[in-house]
Amino acid sequence: MEKREINGNFALPMPIVLIGAEVGGKVNFMPAGWCTQVNGNPPMILCALARNHHTTKGILETGAFSVNVPSPALLDKTDYCGLVSGAEVDKSGLFEVFYGKLKKAPMIRDCPVNFECRVFQTVPLPSHTAFIGEIVTAYADEAVTVDGKPDYVAINPLVLTMADNAYHGLGEAVGNAWSAGKALIQK
Ligand SMILES: Cc1cc2nc3c(=O)[nH]c(=O)nc-3n(C[C@H](O)[C@H](O)[C@H](O)COP(=O)(O)O)c2cc1C
Repeated sequence: MEKREINGNFALPMPIVLIGAEVGGKVNFMPAGWCTQVNGNPPMILCALARNHHTTKGILETGAFSVNVPSPALLDKTDYCGLVSGAEVDKSGLFEVFYGKLKKAPMIRDCPVNFECRVFQTVPLPSHTAFIGEIVTAYADEAVTVDGKPDYVAINPLVLTMADNAYHGLGEAVGNAWSAGKALIQK
């Protein structure tokens, strides 16, 4: 198959989360596609947020943030949070908020999965600040939990592609991880 060069910026599909923080004592949320787990024990999540975002300011103030996984039912509100800044518009009443152990990482009750994170390390990058947060507690709605783990097919998290600026659902599983490749292991 012939290869052609493409623009590598924003070219990977991205699971979408809502990052929560308190800014000047007020709750604020923004969607992020640049968010992923980066450490196993203790579990840590990295999210890369533009330096001028209101949420970034809040995380630097408090040293805490939340990561909330929206289902398609929250698609419009999620997108809205990415269109307006908390610096100009009050987004604090958009969701029912709850707090966990950290007391300063606001989480969204309607998101089926939530993580409260304490900032472990802050990495300044040319345009963004990468926050590595230790997951202090993870929460999931009982209705979408199987054997203590989130059922992501039921949750159907949003996945963003930026070639067409579209949100997708997760879709069905297509294979078993750490298993499907076993048939190819040379004996
Ligand atoms: C789907 C989506 C994903 C986004 N992902 C990111 C991201 O990963 N990092 C980032 O800095 N901004 C991202 N943004 C932009 C911010 O969410 C947006 O600028 C937001 O309004 C910032 O809000 P704030 O100023 O209240 O923090 C994304 C926006 C959308 C709509």
